[in-house]
This record gives sequence, structure tokens and C-alpha cells, in this order.
Amino acid sequence: MTAGLGVVVGATGALGSAIVARLRSAGLRVIAVARSADALAALADGDEQIVPLAADLQSDGAIDTIAAACDAPVRIAVQAAGLPGSGTIDTLTGDELEAGMNGKIGGLLRLIRGVQDHLEPGSRLVVLGGHYGFEPTPNAPLAGMTNAALGNLVRSLSDRYGPDGVTVHLIAPGPVESPRMTAIAQRIADRRGGETTADQVLDEYRAGSPLGRLTTVDEVAWAVELLLAPEASGLHGATLSLDLGRRRGIG
Ligand SMILES: NC(=O)c1ccc[n+]([C@@H]2O[C@H](COP(=O)([O-])OP(=O)(O)OC[C@H]3O[C@@H](n4cnc5c(N)ncnc54)[C@H](OP(=O)(O)O)[C@@H]3O)[C@@H](O)[C@H]2O)c1
Repeated sequence: MTAGLGVVVGATGALGSAIVARLRSAGLRVIAVARSADALAALADGDEQIVPLAADLQSDGAIDTIAAACDAPVRIAVQAAGLPGSGTIDTLTGDELEAGMNGKIGGLLRLIRGVQDHLEPGSRLVVLGGHYGFEPTPNAPLAGMTNAALGNLVRSLSDRYGPDGVTVHLIAPGPVESPRMTAIAQRIADRRGGETTADQVLDEYRAGSPLGRLTTVDEVAWAVELLLAPEASGLHGATLSLDLGRRRGIG
């Protein structure tokens, strides 16, 4: 298979933009998807091999928009769209739950339906989940529930697409050194009424790993690029945990 085409949803985010950069260095042309056309134009920054595509993955209209943009076999499609902000176990609303599930789970299904006619043996379908899908916390119930649901969905997608030679992968980072994580730390600090600063909250998260730090965006982007190797078919249906040893359970 030649380098070919990548499709990245959430392409302008901290993780998505690092993934786009990695796929570009691997020689792929990349369809970069997000809602803000301005942010997409800034991402492309004159690189004609980055194709900006404004689409909202919360809506079924994104399926046809993505399908119309795919003009070659899709080597890898990545769902890296961010979850909307949401409450704790005490404050999470039904609307937040609906938007989160629709964006993350529905968004993955819409992405796959958009690229479906351009998949071929060796194509990869990849979604970013997260550590809290496996280690629930009352601070982030929406991330926990959506990421747990992704574990289930990736298994059924691997049954559906495996016979076509298309592999499916869940990447589950721990908290990542990123603006999103800084915003979450600030919300937690605010809820504590000023007892701790956002930096102190981030230090608590860092201490949750025996490496004493957060996952980096480049570590996540590396894992996505790794999946381009033919040998990565062996990871079909599996979860790649990038949690720096946070998870205590076995299995
Ligand atoms: N950062 C972390 O600590 C961390 C840790 C573990 C897992 N993750 C997973 O990785 C995801 C991305 O994280 P991040 O830090 O890169 O987030 P981010 O910087 O907030 O980026 C979010 C991206 O998703 C796009 N997006 C959001 N809603 C969309 C929609 N409805 N349709 C299309 N695009 C949409 C945003 O662009 P527009 O707003 O222009 O649409 C942006 O490109 C998270 O949601 C989470 O599931 C993150």
C-alpha cells in the first residue's frame, strides 16, 4: 500500500494537530476535519497536502461531507475530536451526556461511514479514548462513560471490519499535557474554592503516574503513526494504553 490518504477529525486540537503533523511526515496527504474553518486554514498554513474540511461530527451531514472529500484509498482514519466540557458526577447534565455520546461515539460512526467506500485491506480505523474509561473518576464521568463505551464499540467494529482486512484500534492516553487538561485542572481548582491552584491540581495528576508526569501529545501522535506499520495489524481490536503506568488493575 502506498502512503495514501489520512483523515483526522479534531485535526486542530492539541492531539489532532500533532497527529496530522506525524501523518504528514510519514508522507500521507491528510484531510483535516474540525468545525472551525479558520483554525483549519491556520493548521494547513500553505501545505497543500493538508486538505481543510469543515464539518460537525455531531451531525449526520458530516458523513456525506467526508465521503465527498475522499478521493483516494484511506490509509488511516482517526477520530480525535474533543469532548465538550462537562460536569462532575454531582453536576453532569443530560444535555452534556447526550452531546458527549453523540460527538464521540456518534462521531466515530459518522467518520467510518464517511470513509467506508475508500477502505481497503490494511486500512486503519483509530479512535482516541482515555484512561478514565478504565479507571472511573467522579471528576470526569462523561470522559469515563464515553471512553468505556468506545472499548465496547471498537470490539464490535473489529468484528465488522476485520474480515475486510481493515483493522480497528483504541488509543487510551492518560491525562495529556495540553490546554484541555489545564482547563480541567482550573475547573477542579475553582470547585475547591481556591484551596489549590490549577498547577497544584496538575501536580496531583502527575503524581498519579510512577513517572511523575503527564502523557505528551507527541507520545499519542507516535502511537497513531506506529499503526501505519504492516505489523500493527496484530493490534487489531486492542487498546493501546498510554497512561504512564497509572492503571493499577491487571487485565
Ligand atoms: N487532552 C487530554 O488530556 C486527553 C487525554 C486523554 C484522551 N483525550 C482524548 O482526546 C480528545 C482530544 O483531546 P485534545 O486535547 O486534542 O482536545 P482539544 O485540543 O480540545 O481539540 C478538540 C478538537 O476537536 C474538534 N472538535 C470538537 N468538536 C467537534 C465536532 N463536533 N466536530 C468536529 N470536530 C470537533 C475541535 O475543533 P472545533 O472546535 O473547531 O470543531 C478540535 O480540533 C479528547 O476529547 C479526549 O477524548 C484527551
